[in-house]
Amino acid sequence: MRRRLRLRRDASLTLLLSAALGLLLYAQHDGEAPTTSTPQARRREAQRPTPGPRAFQVLDSGAAPPAYEGDTPPSPTPTGSFDFRRYLRAKDQRRFSLLINQPHKCRGDGAPGGQPDLLIAVKSVAADFERRQAVRQTWGAEGRVQGALVRRVFLLGVPRSADPEGEGTQTHWRALLHAESHAYSDILLWAFDDTFFNLTLKEIHFLAWASAFCPNVRFVFKGDADVFVHVGNLLEFLASRDPAQDLLAGDVIVQARPIRARDSKYYIPEAVYGLPAYPAYAGGGGFVLSGATLRRLASACAQVELFPIDDVFLGMCLQRLRLTPEPHPAFRTFGISQPSAAPHLSTFDPCFYRELVVVHGLSAADIWLMWRLLHGSHGPVCAHRQPVAAGPFQWGS
Ligand SMILES: *[C@@H]1O[C@H](CO)[C@@H](O)[C@H](O)[C@H]1NC(C)=O
Repeated sequence: MRRRLRLRRDASLTLLLSAALGLLLYAQHDGEAPTTSTPQARRREAQRPTPGPRAFQVLDSGAAPPAYEGDTPPSPTPTGSFDFRRYLRAKDQRRFSLLINQPHKCRGDGAPGGQPDLLIAVKSVAADFERRQAVRQTWGAEGRVQGALVRRVFLLGVPRSADPEGEGTQTHWRALLHAESHAYSDILLWAFDDTFFNLTLKEIHFLAWASAFCPNVRFVFKGDADVFVHVGNLLEFLASRDPAQDLLAGDVIVQARPIRARDSKYYIPEAVYGLPAYPAYAGGGGFVLSGATLRRLASACAQVELFPIDDVFLGMCLQRLRLTPEPHPAFRTFGISQPSAAPHLSTFDPCFYRELVVVHGLSAADIWLMWRLLHGSHGPVCAHRQPVAAGPFQWGS
């Protein structure tokens, strides 16, 4: 009885702390650059005079095909308009050297137990150390998860120095990344500028790296550092899939129209992309692919002309392979407002997250807190049964 009471006291304390942290996050969130707001959130913010509660937004269903506005850009976000002429001129320069490698990441000697079942690859930028820490300590943790061997890498380019005579800053970041790589063995650093429009370079370099250094990996999850991934649910989903078959699943966007408004960050002139709609693509916030598709994409993407929006680019590579990405309702790379799938739950409710695979738009603290709420010693007490994960999980069954 006393133990029960203590448990209850613990639970209310957790709730209280969560509420406090939530308030704090909310206060902070409003002051921030719009890096965690989704396209819909951005659009709606413009019409909303006073900021509402910290909310994720849902894609309007039944509306016209969504225009591409992408998802969370990594900081630093682009400033000024995009120089297409320069981009087109430099487009053929698409091979950059690897400055920090993890050659043993997927080898038996570096990975006790052999080849990973799941490789988690997270796009990050040098300055975002805290988010990397949050991911390392939560959903990106390496080791065995429900019997599956999980490995992790972060994908980085060279930070573009803010000030022109930023020689010192450059060496500073490089030294930090080397130290971080030494400590965690999870940093991949390439020699291109880490900018929003170079995410496509990150994509092709990662695909080439993974097929060279992780040739036998069963599945790969690739996403942003501001997502929450329910790795257990992801593994459940993958349990019935064959890594030798094609698979790329995520938050799939079909018939997105290129944005022709010059002042948009995602403006694409007709000279660069003339067709009225993009091929189907999976939102870059988080998607999963099989080892077979990884290897096929690596060679297909090498033949597709660079396109400045990375997830659309990957859609173009898929199209070249005559593959279509598979929509999965539990991948929410555009974030959530009132969870339409589960209206009985509030947004920051572990019972809601428990039913999803990927949720986009979280701060480092959000990620950590959600992990604690989901994986804490008591676990969330939810009225509804967990629908995604059913029965004990077995790899290779
Ligand atoms: C991409 O990186 C290259 C090499 O660092 C750089 O020259 C180029 O300006 C970058 N492109 C964009 C669009 O940021």
